[in-house]
Amino acid sequence: MRFDFTNKRVLVTGGTRGIGRAVVAAFDKAGARIAINGRSDESVDKMIAAMTGKKRLFAAAGDVGTVAGCESVVGGAIELLGGLDILVNCAGVGVDLPIEASDESTWDRTLNVNLKGTFFCCRAALAALRESQGSIINIASDAGLMGNPNSSVYCASKGGVVNMTRAMALELAPGVRVNCVCPGYVDTDMVRRDWIEQDDDPARLEQMLCDYAPMKRMATPEEIAASVLFLATVEAGFVTGSALQIDGGSTAGH
Ligand SMILES: NC(=O)c1ccc[n+]([C@@H]2O[C@H](COP(=O)([O-])OP(=O)(O)OC[C@H]3O[C@@H](n4cnc5c(N)ncnc54)[C@H](O)[C@@H]3O)[C@@H](O)[C@H]2O)c1
Repeated sequence: MRFDFTNKRVLVTGGTRGIGRAVVAAFDKAGARIAINGRSDESVDKMIAAMTGKKRLFAAAGDVGTVAGCESVVGGAIELLGGLDILVNCAGVGVDLPIEASDESTWDRTLNVNLKGTFFCCRAALAALRESQGSIINIASDAGLMGNPNSSVYCASKGGVVNMTRAMALELAPGVRVNCVCPGYVDTDMVRRDWIEQDDDPARLEQMLCDYAPMKRMATPEEIAASVLFLATVEAGFVTGSALQIDGGSTAGH
């Protein structure tokens, strides 16, 4: 599908790396004007410098793990873009820990960004999205649709994102559509640098992650980005409250 988002105003949180970076690149290719969020000015500036369509890219650095941070990032983006058509909540942290090793700081670190940050970015964007009859796409996870061992805190955060997406879709219809994407394992820094490269046996872990999906590989960030753009199109105008699985079949048997 060829996407055309000419002059559409988009904010992508967590847009400097991994899935978020691929989402920014795909919207850029489709002609959108994009505010890019990342935690630091430096990471966002570096990202913008590396992209081609620089005139349509705007910096919206800040921590979306706090309410004040969400309001400042979203408010700043709306000001720079002159409104907002599409909000993509992609900022997230991955945590893989057994219950006994998960303490209050694990809970706060994970939930603050993955769930609270998603909620407060949506809330801060609402007036602008109501005006544009826009759309929200949250990046959840297959871990939001089923349980994974040693991952109860992450699963709680992503399960929250899935059901919050449904609740928001009901509350905001028919004006604003709200959907989420549920990726399986995606070959990004979160998986490769934080998990595979930290493991005692990286080759074994990589093979395990690939074998997890019936399709026998991880997704590419670009495959997740394509589903995000689809959900933002006019053609997806009747899609709201959905949790779109892009997981190589990993949740099909659950
Ligand atoms: N990689 C996977 O296998 C996978 C699978 C399912 C879901 N996801 C989800 O997709 C999203 C993106 O993951 P990824 O794999 O690209 O990870 P990544 O670690 O490569 O990128 C995460 C991005 O979020 C940003 N971020 C984190 N905390 C932030 C904060 N407080 N404020 C602003 N930005 C912040 C990071 O700077 C980075 O740009 C996350 O929500 C993740 O949970 C990833």
